[in-house]
Amino acid sequence: MSTQLTRGIILAGGAGTRLHPLTKIVCKQLLPVYDKPMIYYPLSVLMLGGIREVLVISTPKDLPQFRDLFGDGSSLGLRIEYAEQPKPDGIAQAFLIGADFIGDAHVALILGDNLFYGGLEFFRKALALEEGGCVFGYRVRDPERFGVVEFGEDGKVISIEEKPKHPKSRFAVPGLYVYDNTVVARTRALKPSARGELEITDLNRDYLADGKLNVEILSRGIAWLDTGTPESLLEAASYIGTIEKQQGLKIACLEEIAYTRGLIDRAAFERLIEAEPNPANREYLGGLL
Ligand code: DAU
Repeated sequence: MSTQLTRGIILAGGAGTRLHPLTKIVCKQLLPVYDKPMIYYPLSVLMLGGIREVLVISTPKDLPQFRDLFGDGSSLGLRIEYAEQPKPDGIAQAFLIGADFIGDAHVALILGDNLFYGGLEFFRKALALEEGGCVFGYRVRDPERFGVVEFGEDGKVISIEEKPKHPKSRFAVPGLYVYDNTVVARTRALKPSARGELEITDLNRDYLADGKLNVEILSRGIAWLDTGTPESLLEAASYIGTIEKQQGLKIACLEEIAYTRGLIDRAAFERLIEAEPNPANREYLGGLL
């Protein structure tokens, strides 16, 4: 097990064009997914991975709302910082914007619109890697919409392509990435793509060319949910709602995670419960004491 410190980044910018007019005033990552804002889900993944220091990157317009939502993170036992991305110049730009925040740590980047549900061992395993990068492969019906990873017969990665017209496999790369500290220097050396973005796929190719990219296949028992269109947003909400109702447990309840993972003590948790205006949530959280 590595003792390496890993900091987390949530990238929550972009225009949310395909969800317009939902995103005319409210940014995509703050839209509801069943009973909580979308960004709760990726933040819960980072917390469950053991990450305690998080940088939220969003547009200058939307960033203040995230700040209102989470503050400095201390009520959840976290340290949360904020940084602006003036224009959506690419996912990998997060490592340039976040260079000072990353410091000498490793970093996990999660896209603010990516929802995962299921056992997170795959993520904890990636966080334990001593060096290199780690991305995941998830079987999908429509790989051409994503970064796509191609495997050789020995299971080794041969290529990664961004939205290929003719995908070489069915394995998409979800928006969750783990990198060692060379990520900042590698990103600085990247050139913008034809569409003018610093591409996360080019960064992954750079690790791959050095033999330093790990790709873990996610099992079908893990749900990776899309939230990019009104239809997929509705489906994600009903998926979360169905499971929460069946189990009587909440998915991505940040207060619950903070308490049960020991990020905050009982007194701090009781303060959170007192401050919770929704009686149903108060009852749920109270039941955890
Ligand atoms: O969801 C996984 C996919 O995410 C990967 O398989 C692809 O390799 C990766 O390029 C990305 O594809 P998308 O088509 O989903 O990228 P999109 O430009 O839509 O950005 C994904 C999210 O990140 C979106 O919520 C907006 C945010 N974003 C994106 C860019 C380019 C930013 O906040 N800033 C940016 O500069």
